[in-house]
Amino acid sequence: MKGKPGRTVRTGIGDTPGMPVIDYGKCSSCGLCVRVCKSFTIMDDGGSPRVVPDNGLGCIACGQCMAVCAKGAVTVRGRALTPADSFPLPPRGKCATADALENLFLARRSVREFANRVPEKPLVERMLSMAASAPMGIPPSDVGVVAVHGFERVQEFAGDIIGEFRKWQMFSNPFVLRLFSLFMKKTEAESMRDFILPATSMMIGARESGTDLLLYHAPVALLFHQSPYADPADGTIACTYAMIAAESLGLGTCMIGTVSFALNRRKDLKEKWGIPAENTVSMAMIMGHPAFRYARGIRRRFSSAVFR
Ligand SMILES: Cc1cc2nc3c(=O)[nH]c(=O)nc-3n(C[C@H](O)[C@H](O)[C@H](O)COP(=O)(O)O)c2cc1C
Ligand code: SF4
Ligand code: SF4
Repeated sequence: MKGKPGRTVRTGIGDTPGMPVIDYGKCSSCGLCVRVCKSFTIMDDGGSPRVVPDNGLGCIACGQCMAVCAKGAVTVRGRALTPADSFPLPPRGKCATADALENLFLARRSVREFANRVPEKPLVERMLSMAASAPMGIPPSDVGVVAVHGFERVQEFAGDIIGEFRKWQMFSNPFVLRLFSLFMKKTEAESMRDFILPATSMMIGARESGTDLLLYHAPVALLFHQSPYADPADGTIACTYAMIAAESLGLGTCMIGTVSFALNRRKDLKEKWGIPAENTVSMAMIMGHPAFRYARGIRRRFSSAVFR
């Protein structure tokens, strides 16, 4: 049965609903597509699945029904999803084991010293294609990535961000900081005084003597940005996936939080670096071949982890 266009959840690039189609010639009525569809677009109709386009939220094209159907009886089109996006899963034995994954996590460090070699574009693309499997709020993904590629381009970008930091130095005047603190949360004012101001002032000074304390002379900087429709977490989740993907490819990374603060305040820089005006930069990450490997791991803990 073919669905008709119905209601839709808008995202930056998804302004029409998805369209699930069920091939009843293949369907065994197992009911799994009904169970996974939490938009309630596929409903049970006397033991058979039925597409009800205007039900619930409308099809968000999450693809869950297409992925769960062992008979290949469901196809979904729309919101950037096509049946060609459905592929056979790798055999379980080819997936990373918990031990392998934990070892990768344990070996990862934030890398701020890079070899004098630029990761080639196909390697960056491979990493991004791996990271694109990150969960997204409402499909299709509203996260975009800008890869600033090559030492010179990254330094030009660093110079632009440091330019914005220079403006912030007016807060080093205690009177100005006290005045602006009235409009900030206590923790924001403390962070400005004790971290952002001293850190950015160090970066400015270092840059004048040819040292990059912002992007650490990295060969690649990745900017994860997202549309106003996205969940604020989406870009950072994608960036975290990118970090792990890069690690598995032998690349070193470090998230750089201060970049987004600066970039989101500067329309001109967003335009210059290819970030749509309406989008917010959620996270920046530097990447390159590490200059050296760490000899030992560091055990980390959450601030708390409790069962209730
Ligand atoms: C959201 C976020 C922002 C970060 N921003 C910066 C940054 O601006 N500069 C930097 O040198 N490191 C930055 N880091 C890296 C952290 O300092 C690093 O993760 C932490 O020191 C722990 O080290 P590890 O990643 O090697 O375990 C950031 C990390 C996160 C998660
Ligand atoms: S998952 Fe596939 S086989 Fe099962 S009910 Fe849905 S369409 Fe039919
Ligand atoms: S793609 Fe997702 S929302 Fe659309 S019908 Fe399938 S499970 Fe439901």
